[in-house]
Amino acid sequence: MVSLSCVFPFCRANADMIPLPTMQWMEGNLRLLDQRKLPSEETYIDCRDIDSLAEAIRTLAVRGAPAIGIAAAFGAVIAALTTDPGEKFNEAFVAKIDILEGTRPTAVNLFHCLDIQRRIFRMNPGRDSAIEALLESARDMMRSDLEASRQMGRFGADLLEKGSVVLTHCNAGGLATAGLGTALAVIYEAWERGILEKVYADETRPLLQGARLTAWELSRAGIPVDVLPDSAAASLLQKGEVDAVIVGSDRIAANGDAANKIGTYPLALAAKEHGIPFYVVAPLSTFDLSTPCGSGIEIEQRGRNELNSPGERKLLPESAGVWNPAFDVTPATLITAIICEKGVLFSPDADSLRLLLGKDRQFKK
Ligand code: MRU
Repeated sequence: MVSLSCVFPFCRANADMIPLPTMQWMEGNLRLLDQRKLPSEETYIDCRDIDSLAEAIRTLAVRGAPAIGIAAAFGAVIAALTTDPGEKFNEAFVAKIDILEGTRPTAVNLFHCLDIQRRIFRMNPGRDSAIEALLESARDMMRSDLEASRQMGRFGADLLEKGSVVLTHCNAGGLATAGLGTALAVIYEAWERGILEKVYADETRPLLQGARLTAWELSRAGIPVDVLPDSAAASLLQKGEVDAVIVGSDRIAANGDAANKIGTYPLALAAKEHGIPFYVVAPLSTFDLSTPCGSGIEIEQRGRNELNSPGERKLLPESAGVWNPAFDVTPATLITAIICEKGVLFSPDADSLRLLLGKDRQFKK
């Protein structure tokens, strides 16, 4: 029996489209659209144990901060399902959660969702009741993420004028969340309202999430999109061709500094220089008040292969090293506004963030 918990990079803009599930819970199996293969192949992988799910997260078969968190939440269900009941049940479960936590360090959603699942586990002793409660909690996260993306879409689109041209970076769309995305939720909503003219998508080196995923998602939705090399973005802004830069985030520190895909910070600098609004769109699960500012955010370093062998050919001389950070931090001072499901926070800083979130939230990392 196939369960109906699934995430669709669906699109309201084109009613003829067949939705393609990004993530589906199928009775003990988390089926993931393999984002490493897009756009040339639409294939799925099945994760029935923690090692295969951890590998899928590490290698970006599933990626994007909210999607990683939700996949890990279903991972907690898999952890309980694949652990024998008995004396060591609790210990073995926690060891599996630790494996999931070790997959990617920057997106706080991973730690946030797993923290919730640890709490649910403690509150529901016994294997069967733990499994049931963990599954309900993962499905809840999926539902709230979808609702959050709708809200953020509406708040963000309110900031755009008719005929807007938007630049985005990486993929912050349906593929990266359980809904329409964060930055792309704004873009979908603006398109529906008829106020969006076109989108520019940075290709996003080295893994090309912009070219492979954002351009794929937007094209499926019938939204005009042009892909540009990351290094061309500043020139595009200089030419006055863009009305707003809209990006997602992997972690927002207590003072409003925002980590996102490498290449976001230079975009924010160029946007400031040319007087173009720079918006960060992120759900509350991306905020981390236990990290005071951006310098405290751990930036994932990824392997040599991503730079050396993006295709068949090796590109680097053997003796050359690599510096391959997956993310950078944009200081709050360069952010025009942060858009979340609660509203729009202009000129974000520590005081306004604390007011918005109400109370401190602590995460493990
Ligand atoms: O390395 P990735 O592809 O997981 O990085 C994703 C991003 O940087 C996204 O912009 C971010 O997670 C926001 S997604 C709604």
